[in-house]
Amino acid sequence: MRIVLGIESSCDETAAALVSEDRVILAQRIASQDEAHRPYGGVVPEIAARAHAEILTPLIEATLADAGMTLADVDAVAATAGPGLIGGVMVGLVTAKALAMAGDKPLIAINHLEGHALSPRLADETLEFPYLLLLASGGHCQLLLVEGVGAYRRLATTIDDALGEAFDKTAKILGLGYPGGPAVERLAAEGNAKNVPLPRPLLGSAEPHFSFAGLKSAVLRAKQAEIHADADIAASFQQAAVDCVIDRTKRAVSAAGPVTALVVAGGVAANKAVRAALEGLAADNGLRFVAPPLGLCTDNAAMIAWAGAERLGQDDPLDFAPRPRWPLDAAAEPVRGAGVKA
Ligand code: KG4
Ligand code: ZN
Repeated sequence: MRIVLGIESSCDETAAALVSEDRVILAQRIASQDEAHRPYGGVVPEIAARAHAEILTPLIEATLADAGMTLADVDAVAATAGPGLIGGVMVGLVTAKALAMAGDKPLIAINHLEGHALSPRLADETLEFPYLLLLASGGHCQLLLVEGVGAYRRLATTIDDALGEAFDKTAKILGLGYPGGPAVERLAAEGNAKNVPLPRPLLGSAEPHFSFAGLKSAVLRAKQAEIHADADIAASFQQAAVDCVIDRTKRAVSAAGPVTALVVAGGVAANKAVRAALEGLAADNGLRFVAPPLGLCTDNAAMIAWAGAERLGQDDPLDFAPRPRWPLDAAAEPVRGAGVKA
């Protein structure tokens, strides 16, 4: 069995993993930079790049040691080459190039979003193409028809904020700190989702896309009104977000044609309310529902190594340039209002 070393450094997690082509995660390490960014309430790109540069090489050495391996045992080196914060991406990609060159191994440059998109196949060997994927992270919120490795058709994206971003901004408004998603989910569990009336942007709209900016602004107004409990705001926000996700995904289920499963990936896939609602939608439509385990939803290197395993034989040149922007579906039209985000 061939083994791929995966490297992830596109945002605030430095990660390395060894994954075999028969889906065994032989070792993986993730160093989170949460503490470094917490005082700023979000990821500071310069701090992130420096932290990746300091930690990545020892982290890779430790990951190899965990598996009792050396570079000689690896069959390919896969690294996130974009999209993401360019300083971090450069650190990971340059390190991968150096290892590939020194060890005479093929380099595979991975689109971080492809890592998320294929991660459900690492967790579930029975998941076949084509599947309908909700990819919801801090920088993206897309519905994709995954037709094969490298064959992604974007059915919808956000016209303003990503879903994870909406969670993070709600956390900031409620003073819950960074990272926000898990904190909002915890507080929401103590609140009543019916107590704060909040909008559901684009609910029922004929256009396919997502929008969360209006919801975020409504959360801010609800907080400023000083009449609601924070837990009720969190619960009402989460419910509104879930309602939007389900409405938009339902539309995509109709538009996608026959698929093997409804799949969710990306950091927000760790949210239990989102998962449960999607599971219900899948059941209503007679579809299988697949969600990777929580550790494979948020940024990690196992998904990058796995995407490399799916692409074994498709080597990239050692001068592959990092890509701060890299859409999965190059043919998809940019949508009005979409920001430039990782
Ligand atoms: O995929 P990811 O780890 O990094 C990106 O590529 O963006 O996603 C991070 C995002 C953040 O916005 C974070 O707040 C959100 O995923 N997130 C959650 C939860 N866990 C992480 N959002 C809601 N509920 C969660 N439990
Ligand atoms: Zn991600």
